[in-house]
Amino acid sequence: MTAEVTMRVWRGEPAGGAFVDYAVPAVDGEVVLDVVHRLQAGPAPDLACRWNCKAGKCGSCSAEVNGTPCLLCMTRMDELPRAEPVVVAPMRTFPIIRDLVTDVSFNYEMARRLPPFAPRPPEANGAYRMASIDVARGQEYRRCIECFLCQDVCHVLRDHEEHKADYGGPRLFLRAMELESHPLDTADRRALVRDQLGLGLCNITKCCTEVCPEHITITDNAIIPLKERVVDAAYDPVAWLGRRIRRRTRRPDPSPLPAADDRSPDKPASGVAGRQ
Ligand code: SF4
Ligand code: SF4
Ligand code: FES
Repeated sequence: MTAEVTMRVWRGEPAGGAFVDYAVPAVDGEVVLDVVHRLQAGPAPDLACRWNCKAGKCGSCSAEVNGTPCLLCMTRMDELPRAEPVVVAPMRTFPIIRDLVTDVSFNYEMARRLPPFAPRPPEANGAYRMASIDVARGQEYRRCIECFLCQDVCHVLRDHEEHKADYGGPRLFLRAMELESHPLDTADRRALVRDQLGLGLCNITKCCTEVCPEHITITDNAIIPLKERVVDAAYDPVAWLGRRIRRRTRRPDPSPLPAADDRSPDKPASGVAGRQ
């Protein structure tokens, strides 16, 4: 007798829905997305599911299997308990469009708040030069496939609808750190990250790092160094004293500008930690 597996799939629309059980033959070597495709080819031809590459690279097939945010195309059926139904649900943090498809436009709207890369002028020969250690460091940040599983799992977004207006989330903090640590970049996003993207709400639980399919150490290599930069800029007493002394010893400006806020951040030249 052929072994069967029960797929418990969430079906519904924004107004509501429910889990529906489908019993299908178990096939060796399949991932969850394979079984979803077999459901579409058989008992559930109208089941909505977003996917593109089936190789863990496009970030489209994000969902939750047995309560864990994951890529459907990278979740092996033989690693799930066979005795129980395999529960497939849409990402909980984002609004439902239909069945397993959610509206992730929140993430793109948040991304628009971050000022883009702003390189300094090139050298006299037209070249830009960077230390190889800075080139290597940036590679990890750029592995992101924008699957938004980190955003889905982050409790600040998942459990607090009220924070969606003022919290960027781990994906955006990763992008902010990528830009802030770029040695050629001249923009300063630290006050914005602190005041408008809610970096202080992250309490470093590391759940985002645990679900990232690209194995980016979001918390240790992006969020914590970004927090250090923001804190250094705002509250470092040595930097604050230095700015005070510099201002007092500076010759009077014939056309003075309004006084800068003592707590306004100074962008560090380079390096992850950014201590000055
Ligand atoms: S470490 Fe911060 S950003 Fe990541 S899941 Fe936890 S609270 Fe969210
Ligand atoms: S950081 Fe990882 S989990 Fe978050 S969007 Fe990028 S690839 Fe996905
Ligand atoms: S289909 Fe592209 S990541 Fe799963």
